[in-house]
Amino acid sequence: SSKRQPYRTAYHFQPPQNWMNDPNGPMIYKGIYHLFYQYNPYEAVWGNIVWAHSTSTDLVNWAAHPPAIYPSHPYDINGCWSGSATILPGEKPAILYTGINPQNRQVQNLAMPKNLSDPFLIEWVKSPYNPILIPTFENNIDPSSFRDPTTAWLGPDGRWRMIIGSNRNGRGMALLYRSKDFIHWKKAQHPLHSSKDTGMWECPDFYPVSNSSKNGFDSSVIGSGIRHVLKASLGGTGHEYYTVGTYNPENDTYVPDKGFVDDSRGLRYDYGKFYGSKTFFDSAKNRRVLWGWISESTNATIDLTKGWSGLQAIPRKLWLDKSGKQIMQWPVKEIEKLRTNQVNLPSKVLIGGSVLEVAGVTGSQADVDILFEISDYEKADVLDPSWTNPQELCSRNGASVKGGLGPFGLMVLASKDLQEYTAVFFRIFKVQTNYVVLMCTDLSRSSLHLDYDKPTYGAFMDLDPVREKLSLRSLIDHSIVESFGGEGKACFTARVYPTMAIGDGAHLFAFNNGTENVTISSLTAWSMKKAQIN
Ligand code: FRU
Repeated sequence: SSKRQPYRTAYHFQPPQNWMNDPNGPMIYKGIYHLFYQYNPYEAVWGNIVWAHSTSTDLVNWAAHPPAIYPSHPYDINGCWSGSATILPGEKPAILYTGINPQNRQVQNLAMPKNLSDPFLIEWVKSPYNPILIPTFENNIDPSSFRDPTTAWLGPDGRWRMIIGSNRNGRGMALLYRSKDFIHWKKAQHPLHSSKDTGMWECPDFYPVSNSSKNGFDSSVIGSGIRHVLKASLGGTGHEYYTVGTYNPENDTYVPDKGFVDDSRGLRYDYGKFYGSKTFFDSAKNRRVLWGWISESTNATIDLTKGWSGLQAIPRKLWLDKSGKQIMQWPVKEIEKLRTNQVNLPSKVLIGGSVLEVAGVTGSQADVDILFEISDYEKADVLDPSWTNPQELCSRNGASVKGGLGPFGLMVLASKDLQEYTAVFFRIFKVQTNYVVLMCTDLSRSSLHLDYDKPTYGAFMDLDPVREKLSLRSLIDHSIVESFGGEGKACFTARVYPTMAIGDGAHLFAFNNGTENVTISSLTAWSMKKAQIN
């Protein structure tokens, strides 16, 4: 069946069949991780949306349960859309989600577990107060742009707060609501934040991070040393943008350090494919964990034929970089237990123009960690000041275009003869007396097949290659490659569909297509075992 289904994954979360999109209501309850997700029980295209449900004790292996929330009442009869879980005092989980009513209006609903002593929380009961929020003309809310409630947090006045994504004449926003009892919610006068011309803010997320530790915090934590992150998924661009800022819980204002922009200057969790994401606080490990949906790069006909669509990214631990300017991300530690057959490469100079096969790992199912060292910056190309769009810069200078310092990096899911490969690489430019690192993921040669989308992704990294380590880690899993540059400073997820680089035909290479040599000071690669998923 792996011959007929070469793009199914071995350790990424996916249902056995049909359509999946956003992760919903992730949480930990009584030591068990819960993941709900947007799911079509009938086919591999979007529609008939329910909350499918799986649980895990390690975020690696997952058991499937029946859908937890599905259309049953007028307030959600046309779909149970995205939402979040909040653990109420006394260890009582509550879910807020968007329901689609018979008029196709978006309303908000509440559901609680039927039996709190069942750690799997199999059955959920919808509140008799549903819908708890409806879009009204008085409130100036567009009924088709009112969705995806967040995890709620407690303010110093003892009232709950949560935000809901919305859009008013193209101005995307996070509407703020307050409640004393989690049932009756009142809209605050001002949205928590908004930004013109960004369109509907889907799946907003809002949470505290520390400016001095990698730990995560419960959503209600405030105090000195705490900053906040606000994220929104923008349907128009298909990307997610976030800001780091200051939240004042006394008057519920959020002031981002930099404005919210949805262009190549904006901060993104992932510069490849990654959407509808959501974090949760893992109280067992004091970390904040990010889940994100990775869609296909094909069309519906292909998806229907193969019978499934969509993956979840490997959950990532997320924290504020010590610069305070951006979020760092790293695959959760638990995934490392799937590592096997470790291959170590001794320190090695990668001569300009050379390719080096990393033999001994399963090329279709691997984890690779590589550290580069540069001794001579002389040949770094000068960055033209007009090159402000990193994605364009990466497309114009794909992996096969020779540069001074770089491109160097990995060719993954590569056929033996390099007819097919996905390249993940760096290129270093000179800007006056400083250096700028461009990270790219180039899919243009990822498949000989013509029916797939094969973009090139790019981002400038806030990393000084002279002082900081230039590392690259890639998680490779048949049709997905998740890459982490600079220990989590820039992340790129790619969906790829090789025709030759499948099964035993998938190889792994390091390459340097610059004129200057670079040194691989360490390279460790592992084959990855298959996880038990659903
Ligand atoms: C984001 C999204 C959400 C919505 C859900 C519907 O991908 O469009 O805004 O709640 O998917 O499945």
